[in-house]
Amino acid sequence: MNAYEIRNSFLDFFRSKEHTIVPSAPIVVKNDPTLMFTNAGMNQFKDIFLGNQPSKWKRAADSQKCLRVSGKHNDLEEVGHDTYHHTMFEMLGNWSFGDYFKKEAIAYAWEYLTEVVKIDKDRLYVTVFGGDEKDGQPADMEAYGYWKDHVSEDRIIYGNKKDNFWEMGETGPCGPCSEIHIDLRDDEARKQIPGRDLVNMDDPQVIEIWNLVFMQYNRMADGHLVELPAKHVDTGMGFERLVRVLQGKTSNYDTDVFQPIIQAIAKMSGIEYGKAEKTDVAMRVIADHLRAVSFAIADGQLPSNNGAGYVIRRVLRRAVRYGFTFLGFEEPFVCQLLPILVQQMEHNYPEIKSQQELVSKVIREEEASFLRTLAQGIKRFEGYVEQHPQQDIDGNFAFELFDTFGFPIDLTQLMASEKGINVDMEGFKANLEEQKNRSRKAAEKANGDWVVVNESEQPTEFVGYTDMSCESHILRFREVVAKKKTHFEIVLDKTPFYAEMGGEVGDTGTLTSENETVKILNTVKENNLVIHITEQLPQNPETAFNAAIDVERRQRIANNHSATHLMHAALRQVLGTHVEQKGSLVDDQRLRFDFSHFSKMTPEEIRQVEKIVNQNPECDLRRNPD
Ligand code: SER
Repeated sequence: MNAYEIRNSFLDFFRSKEHTIVPSAPIVVKNDPTLMFTNAGMNQFKDIFLGNQPSKWKRAADSQKCLRVSGKHNDLEEVGHDTYHHTMFEMLGNWSFGDYFKKEAIAYAWEYLTEVVKIDKDRLYVTVFGGDEKDGQPADMEAYGYWKDHVSEDRIIYGNKKDNFWEMGETGPCGPCSEIHIDLRDDEARKQIPGRDLVNMDDPQVIEIWNLVFMQYNRMADGHLVELPAKHVDTGMGFERLVRVLQGKTSNYDTDVFQPIIQAIAKMSGIEYGKAEKTDVAMRVIADHLRAVSFAIADGQLPSNNGAGYVIRRVLRRAVRYGFTFLGFEEPFVCQLLPILVQQMEHNYPEIKSQQELVSKVIREEEASFLRTLAQGIKRFEGYVEQHPQQDIDGNFAFELFDTFGFPIDLTQLMASEKGINVDMEGFKANLEEQKNRSRKAAEKANGDWVVVNESEQPTEFVGYTDMSCESHILRFREVVAKKKTHFEIVLDKTPFYAEMGGEVGDTGTLTSENETVKILNTVKENNLVIHITEQLPQNPETAFNAAIDVERRQRIANNHSATHLMHAALRQVLGTHVEQKGSLVDDQRLRFDFSHFSKMTPEEIRQVEKIVNQNPECDLRRNPD
């Protein structure tokens, strides 16, 4: 089977087990401060697991685009050097929302692997959670018992918390898990060392392919576990690993998921893949990062100087400098590989096709600018070496190259070794450590646990399209310390407050009870929770409040929101239908609308857009009073 057929066989199997096939969520996460990118198939269901939102389905399955380049799950540095880690990968998953649990999850996985795609049972091993004293968790004997129905006990291995207790992040849904591993070594090697001894030992031929998580708990900010309202199943299988197994390859990169891209890189560089480790690593890095960066941009995350945008910029730069250093690419090359990726993926992920032009242009510009920076850095390096003949490269200077010119330290070391000199690594590391400490301090944020005031399973009712105030009760609140300042976050049963979303600022206003008034400074959304931010917690949170927004401010925001739509339509009329909203900011003072176009707008085009917007009959009604 080719990759496309394998993906479909998984979805077909779970369809036949009454699962609804749902689309992949975007790879870029916009409304969960604990995540930058989708790092697992379950992310889009987090609120269902936590009981914040009812589920539309009892059972679901999908193939989810994931990216593991930041936070708790980060594989970036491994990528390219081994043959089975990726930044972007597809996770095949099936979910039960309070429906089936361990028994069926285990039976389905076993049936799919051994009867549908017919993997040799003799190569499979499974792990179960062996318990954890600190968490007060016993070994998962229930999963052990169900596995015994399928495999002999010498194939069931107990694992520790690191491998067999899955957590999405520092807080959030989690639970014991059971992994399925496969031994892909040849018979001779298998005879010498039993596969079970190599499970979770980083052997490139004995790898995990599927993780079955039994979601039972919520990890709280102080580290303790709270039982979830219902028990769920969250499974995730590495699609690229499954393809490798079924296509009989020893590396994920040898499958039809990666080979078309790798062969194109080989052709462009004139270097054959499989000839030398260094150039092979570079080709793998580029093939992997092309996918990560393209999908992130297609889903709306442009490279930038901070946050998620900076992560994407770094991933792309990593690809560029591997190409530059090891394959001799001095002109933008990653963007030239995009058509191959689009051809491979457009059937399952149409967004990559519809955004192709934009993705290509953004990557090309990023590459060109980074290659210019690299060239400048090389000049600085040459200048330094001339000024300090026969001297090692000072750690501060190596750090400057790293920080300002994006030179990874191994590139500086390589250039130094070509001159027969060394780099002061101690000095470099000290600089790096200092920088890390600085950013750690800047990012410090501690969420306290939610304090429940009134129990409710229902999400907050939003009445703000029609009502500017309403009677309301506090469901829960928590204390948050960010950058040494404390604020409180409040969830209400009913609210007129519109939460910051898609670039539109949230409402401000007041909560008033018989005895006091507290100011709401902003409203944001975290997953699907509407959070009201205040610096002052009401003294009596159990009482009834009147929740009222600042009406005049809301009207101004609404005006600017409407103007965004009018401007979008006008831009499409003047420049063409490729104009799509890539980002925006709408507040009570102004609006900003981000879009891509192939050239700078001319003054005439700008005038035309202004004219169309201002002539729109709606405009007079909605014009901002200012
Ligand atoms: N959430 C689990 C994982 O990412 C299973 O899907 O491995």
